[in-house]
Amino acid sequence: MATIKFLGHGCLHITFGGKEILVDPFISPNPKASDIDIRSLKADYVLQTHAHGDHLADLETILTQTSATLVSNYEVATEYGNKGFNAHPMNHGGKWKFDFGTVKYVNAIHSSSFPDGRYGGNPGGFVIWDDTTCIYIAGDTALTWDMKLIPMTCPDLDLAILPIGDNFTMGYEDAVIASEFVNCNKVLGYHYDTFPYIEIDHNAAQKAFKDSGAELILLEIGGSMEV
Ligand code: NI
Ligand code: MN
Repeated sequence: MATIKFLGHGCLHITFGGKEILVDPFISPNPKASDIDIRSLKADYVLQTHAHGDHLADLETILTQTSATLVSNYEVATEYGNKGFNAHPMNHGGKWKFDFGTVKYVNAIHSSSFPDGRYGGNPGGFVIWDDTTCIYIAGDTALTWDMKLIPMTCPDLDLAILPIGDNFTMGYEDAVIASEFVNCNKVLGYHYDTFPYIEIDHNAAQKAFKDSGAELILLEIGGSMEV
């Protein structure tokens, strides 16, 4: 079982295997997440999908206040490891068994530069699982055929967390197809409404999923769900 709390944009707090996992900390620059107090956030691990500023703005603050272990691609993990933080580097197709469960770093079609323009490795997503629960966190990505590899190489998914905001990632129409590719009809949408470029029609998005026999869950910022 896992509890997933939506912290706005691509940021999530997940309780999994008795540990607290933060994904892509971007809170203080997000006016829509002004009710979230980052000082209250606890984390044993931070899963970082890529180096873009709208995903790692608060990463250093979180690592400093929590002494969490950063799990990310080789380049992002090395960047923060060199600053003295705990970091575990991964790369595409690799998996590792942590004390809360197994993490696999999977393909995403996107880009990944640090805010100052330096190379931030290749972007990815994560599949995390234990004996009972399996979750796909897609990160920023287009719809990609590689998503079909996930059900072939990971346990059956209980939840797929997919970007639906369009423009910088797939939109909800493509996310419907992504949910079919990963063979999961329960989807939590994220990476939408934060900026004018990614504002979406919630009803149209939820109808598109319903019409294909799937469910699109949209949480309020600060809201949570269990799976
Ligand atoms: Ni991005
Ligand atoms: Mn993004």
